[in-house]
Amino acid sequence: MNIRSEEEIKIEKLFTWLNGEGYTPDDCHFKKEDYHYFRKNLLKKISIPDTTITPIMERFLYFIGSSKSIENIVVFGSYYGYALLWLLGGGIHNNNRKVSGIDIDFKACEGAKKNIEGINDFFSVGNKCSIYNENALKSLESFQDHSIDLCLLDIDVNGSKKEYIELLNIWENKLKPNCIILAHDPMVEKFHNDFHLFHNFIKTNDLYSSYITLPLDFCGIDIFKKRT
Ligand SMILES: C[S@@+](CC[C@H](N)C(=O)[O-])C[C@H]1O[C@@H](n2cnc3c(N)ncnc32)[C@H](O)[C@@H]1O
Repeated sequence: MNIRSEEEIKIEKLFTWLNGEGYTPDDCHFKKEDYHYFRKNLLKKISIPDTTITPIMERFLYFIGSSKSIENIVVFGSYYGYALLWLLGGGIHNNNRKVSGIDIDFKACEGAKKNIEGINDFFSVGNKCSIYNENALKSLESFQDHSIDLCLLDIDVNGSKKEYIELLNIWENKLKPNCIILAHDPMVEKFHNDFHLFHNFIKTNDLYSSYITLPLDFCGIDIFKKRT
């Protein structure tokens, strides 16, 4: 018997709504059985000291990562790679996918590399995953790509999120038109002032579409696009 919890029904409705409103590509899909299979294997094979990515946020990242039109993904503040692996996991069968994580913390980057190696067998040949131990608030010489389709902003600089504005300013020319931008943590109380500034920045900047905040959990996530 296939019983769906209230939470599952709500999140599946939200996914349909996001597709309908054009926030996510039409081919984004969520297969519950595949999600559970991936989760079971992922949790067996990886090691993370902690994460604020909740099961409902995992589903969202898995859902959005499923689109075949999203080939090039970058996570700013990848830590041990948990959110990155969920974005990658959603497109497990997509060929030619490139996923990059950038983090300033050496130990976290080594951990992320190990986690990616641990789960490597799952992914289609042609998927390429790279971790850069770098400061994302500087333009990276080693990162030549100007074709990012989706990025997740999740750097946390000494307990602040106000650097999201600087991050977008530095990386804007590497984002493709229509690039989907996700910003983690708008619901966290201690970041309210930082997000107030960030939201004003998006609203008053012609480069970006209007954002919505998805209150999926206590962190929440913003979604918007770079305009064409
Ligand atoms: C909240 S954690 C990210 C959690 C992660 N996305 C996950 O999946 O669990 C924030 C990360 O931002 C990184 N960070 C802070 N400042 C940074 C910077 N200037 N450049 C790159 N990473 C940075 C920290 O080292 C930390 O790993």
